[in-house]
Amino acid sequence: MKSIVVVGSQWGDEGKGKITNYLASKADVIIRYQGGDNAGHTVIFNNNEYHLRSIPSGIFYEDKLNIMGNGMVINPLSLAKEMEELLASGYSLNNLVISPLATLDLSYHIALDGLKEKALKDKNIGTTKKGIGPTYTDKAERSSLRMVDFIDPDFANLYKTKLLEKNKLIEFYGGEPISYEDTISDYLKARELILPHVKETVSLLAKLRKENKKILFEGAQGTMLDVDFGTFPYVTSSNTIAGGALSGSGIGLGYIDGAIGIIKAYTTRVGEGPFVSEFENETADKIREIAHEYGVNTHRPRRIGWLDLVQLKYSKNVNGFEYGALTLLDVFSHLDEIKVCVAYEVNNQKIDYLPSSLKTLYQAKPIYKTFKSFKGVDISNIKKFEDLPIEAKEYIKFIEEYLEIKFVIISTGRDKDQTIIREDIF
Ligand code: IMO
Ligand code: MG
Repeated sequence: MKSIVVVGSQWGDEGKGKITNYLASKADVIIRYQGGDNAGHTVIFNNNEYHLRSIPSGIFYEDKLNIMGNGMVINPLSLAKEMEELLASGYSLNNLVISPLATLDLSYHIALDGLKEKALKDKNIGTTKKGIGPTYTDKAERSSLRMVDFIDPDFANLYKTKLLEKNKLIEFYGGEPISYEDTISDYLKARELILPHVKETVSLLAKLRKENKKILFEGAQGTMLDVDFGTFPYVTSSNTIAGGALSGSGIGLGYIDGAIGIIKAYTTRVGEGPFVSEFENETADKIREIAHEYGVNTHRPRRIGWLDLVQLKYSKNVNGFEYGALTLLDVFSHLDEIKVCVAYEVNNQKIDYLPSSLKTLYQAKPIYKTFKSFKGVDISNIKKFEDLPIEAKEYIKFIEEYLEIKFVIISTGRDKDQTIIREDIF
């Protein structure tokens, strides 16, 4: 494939960072097409651990172009901070391009995110409080500032006008108005750092297409957090599905060959909302500790559940992936048995599709198939699929048959080397 979309197939935190980093090593160009600094990708590069929030995972490869696409919402201050950290680690960032059409996530969006969540009380979404929802709201409302405005010499005035307008809304929600004087200097400082990277990307992508460059589209969050297809309203505000790669980058139809779904061997979610295969017991706690299932961004403990094939089939259908990357399989070295949700029970009826109604989803009970695990067997150094314990292979085969996909990458540990490459697709 000359061009592929990496997509989270559950609720985010599937281990996209590691897989994207591997695929990025084979790409010429890496593009982020949606979301903002609500994402948290852990990338281990040359034995150093980096937490990327908005910069694409290919940034560590100085010879590869990294594009922050128009579909993104960008907080200039957190981007500048991320850039400074990378610069301090010795990366040049000459390989970073930012779309002028990306939307700005600014001080008042962040304030409003927190205030709106508070106003929702027990119906809150559990957002990352990074301003994502309010920023995309402004985009849909056609009132937001974009990167083109950020690089405009008149940015300070544009910001001031918006801020004064938004301060009324902040006060409506019972918040403290934000001072222009206190905030503008940080933006102007960040602007100096960001300005040289803002370049028109549509013609750039067209040129890269013509040159037959290998392009990797890096998704953030996951399918069930998609604003259209996720468990609305407990979702993020962007199209996280593979289709988002088109509207979020401007590549045009026809160049993307396929998608790879990142599937964690079990399920996690942070924030509120229905989660059919969730369970809370000692095993869940064990998984959380072993796999360090705490948010990169918010440090919240993640909710834990078994793999849900009903949800994953839905995910496969909306994304259209034929290939999968299975992550965190090594966690099962610590468990006696593994469960997989194969259908839902709703009103004493068995269903095998994801209900659209949240009410129904809350009522749905998981129907499980139980597998024996490979407790005590360390799989972290296995390099070939054939060498995996029989229990692991059976688990994998079952998922593959149910979803009609092939796992081409299997992650057996945190390190880059702890990976089984079953087939080279990119
Ligand atoms: P990565 O890229 C997991 C969740 C939040 C909340 C909902 C809305 O690391 O997989 P938002 O701040 O986006 O308005 O929050 O979405 N959420 C994530 N959950 N991983 C993420 O990113 C997430 N980004 C947002 O917890 O439920
Ligand atoms: Mg994450």
